[in-house]
Amino acid sequence: MGTQQLDGQVAIVTGGAGDIGRATAAALITAGARVVVADVDATKGEQVAAELGEGAAFHQTDVSDLDQVQAAVDFAVSRFGGLNLMFNNAGIGTEMGRFLDDDLADFSKIMGVNLFGVIAGTQRAARHMKDHGGGVIINNASIAAINAGVGLISYRSSKAAVAHATKCMAIDLAPYGIRVNCITPAHIKTGITNYDMAPVLKYMQPLRREATPDDVANTVVFLASDQAAQITGVVLPIDGGTTAGVPFATTQLIMSSAAAKRG
Ligand SMILES: NC(=O)c1ccc[n+]([C@@H]2O[C@H](COP(=O)([O-])OP(=O)(O)OC[C@H]3O[C@@H](n4cnc5c(N)ncnc54)[C@H](O)[C@@H]3O)[C@@H](O)[C@H]2O)c1
Repeated sequence: MGTQQLDGQVAIVTGGAGDIGRATAAALITAGARVVVADVDATKGEQVAAELGEGAAFHQTDVSDLDQVQAAVDFAVSRFGGLNLMFNNAGIGTEMGRFLDDDLADFSKIMGVNLFGVIAGTQRAARHMKDHGGGVIINNASIAAINAGVGLISYRSSKAAVAHATKCMAIDLAPYGIRVNCITPAHIKTGITNYDMAPVLKYMQPLRREATPDDVANTVVFLASDQAAQITGVVLPIDGGTTAGVPFATTQLIMSSAAAKRG
């Protein structure tokens, strides 16, 4: 693959001021695209766009507001002359806690950003793409969309819904040459997840390497390119094998505790 595989294309990256968004915007620009960094955080967003140079422009956008999503699409078209790629990446997390202790106060906010924001972004981008030769939409869910787990019920539910909505929208938009895919990264060290990765790598992730925002960025560039022309409606893990199954160290732990029990 050449480095200019997205030459002349225009992209919107929502949540573009965050760690994954920024890395992806940079990779898209390296691949030849121009990028609208769409984020609710104007200070960080302006800074990221300035760092990325003339291939980037910031547009303040709250993805949970349909009019603001439309305004971001209109901005991309007027500033850079079109819209070929929508990366619906903006998302918010929540405090880890047990389900029975959750006051559910942030349920609507999480759904508004993580789910409605993705659906709104897809619809408004697709309305433009439909009349302009098609396009690509990529939705950033999470491993939480696939693997069930303790706590974070609103977050997990919002991300599971993103994966399902992606498939539905992919079917609906396919006749217009619009591909819609979902990515499900596992733990990546960023602003919203600052875990100690060691136990994750040893007992949960078969690949012993730590994920970075660039792993997501590279996947987005591939899915956006013609190399992925036959790919739509997929939910693609970027998780070092975590959803495939537990690594050998976990199996060893079970075997040794069973052996200890036998005496
Ligand atoms: N970091 C991880 O381990 C991980 C794993 C799986 C999925 N994800 C997903 O990746 C996406 C990006 O997360 P990140 O890790 O870069 O976190 P981050 O906090 O660094 O970035 C999130 C960005 O979204 C922006 N944002 C929040 N609400 C918004 C709104 N209403 N409208 C527009 N922008 C808004 C924030 O200002 C921030 O810049 C999220 O959807 C997240 O759920 C992250």
